[in-house]
Amino acid sequence: MPTIHTFPNSRQLAEQFAANFSDWLNQVPQDRKASVALSGGSTPKQLFELWGSEWAESIDWNRIHFFWGDERCVAPDDPESNFGVAHEVWLSRVAIDPSNIHRVFGESDPEVEAIRYGNEILKQVRIGSNAVPQFDMILLGMGTDGHTASIFPNQMELLTSNQVCAVATHPETGQKRITLTGTVINNAAKAVFLVTGANKAEILQQIFEKTGAYQTFPAAHIQAQENVFYLDEAAAKRS
Ligand code: 6PG
Repeated sequence: MPTIHTFPNSRQLAEQFAANFSDWLNQVPQDRKASVALSGGSTPKQLFELWGSEWAESIDWNRIHFFWGDERCVAPDDPESNFGVAHEVWLSRVAIDPSNIHRVFGESDPEVEAIRYGNEILKQVRIGSNAVPQFDMILLGMGTDGHTASIFPNQMELLTSNQVCAVATHPETGQKRITLTGTVINNAAKAVFLVTGANKAEILQQIFEKTGAYQTFPAAHIQAQENVFYLDEAAAKRS
């Protein structure tokens, strides 16, 4: 069973995660940098806003190499860009060396970028004994269909792909995305889900209780070394 933290609302969730993240960073050995993959969508924006304001001076950002767990195949200045959102409210406001920011080139050809980004990860992130990159922490969200990163229910094979990154297609919009595969996500030392909203509650309950159609949800197949969920009360509600 994963560790589950529940908060009254998304603001308090973000505030507590920011504090816990700072404590977590302090226990990363000082002789190396941490590797963190960021989630996208709307949920992490409040965290990024905190990192770009109250926490801007409190974290040594250059101790971390930041990557994205998934990215929409759009230009970095597109409102849909996960990098664009993080850069606007946080990365452009803190003292971090550009070499610590590893964005996905959403503007590139998806198939070419999936290979390029995978090679960048292989170069920058520690490689586990299983020859798979091992992120120190991967932040994840969950969609209302149980997808995570950009591994959608109709592309479950991405959970066990032998690639580092893959091209995914949003099942409703057809939008192309680059996503870490489940193989890399599950090799992480710590996977942290940030999930809010009542529209996620039923799927979360099925995943935690292993009932209903839980096996059809990609998020149910995420099993890193350590798995932690930060939920607001709406998402944690049990029916
Ligand atoms: C993305 C995300 C995706 C997201 C979920 C939840 O690029 O959209 O990485 O996996 O985490 O769709 O999105 P919300 O936080 O917007 O509900």
